[in-house]
Amino acid sequence: MNNPKNSVILLLTLILIFPLILLSCNGEGDEAQAELDEYIEEFKDTLTPFELEHGIGPITERIEIDDEIDPDLSDKGQSIFVMKCEVCHDLDERKLGPALGDVIEKRSPEYIMNFILNPGENILNHPVGLDLLAEYHIEMPFSDVDKEEARAVYEFLRDYYESR
Ligand code: HEC
Repeated sequence: MNNPKNSVILLLTLILIFPLILLSCNGEGDEAQAELDEYIEEFKDTLTPFELEHGIGPITERIEIDDEIDPDLSDKGQSIFVMKCEVCHDLDERKLGPALGDVIEKRSPEYIMNFILNPGENILNHPVGLDLLAEYHIEMPFSDVDKEEARAVYEFLRDYYESR
């Protein structure tokens, strides 16, 4: 080991291996989760537990969702989606905004409705919204939809997700 060449080789090997070890211990998901936990810690005092989990807006309590999809409501939601959301959102691919085909897997119905009804506040004052803004760099505008329309869009997204 006294040979300086050996030390250099050892050092180089360590430099090469270290990032691999880091990567294997800390997948991207864990990193995102850690960041989110940090944000949530920050917002714990300003947002209610309901808002943290279900977004900020006019939906302030859990809503009842029937197990059965309502096809008429879903159709209504689809027309609204095509008219008001599709400019920025695709179901399966990222566009100006995130793909929404699997959003119901990640977020609660109340969160999705609050986001649609009150995007500004969720983007600027909620840890999840801030995280999204950091990634998409555009503030989703309010698309002039009411509660019933937001509920219909949720039904469409659920219908799409479940019939994939
Ligand atoms: C001008 C572009 C634009 C329009 C129009 C738009 N959005 Fe968005 N949306 C975004 C962007 C960008 C984001 C990511 C957050 C941000 O940066 O504002 C987003 C985020 C979202 C989220 C949160 C996704 C998540 O992972 O939490 C939902 C839900 C959503 N949009 C639904 C809709 C619906 C439904 C409509 C139509 C009524 C709509 N959006 C219209 C750009 C748009």
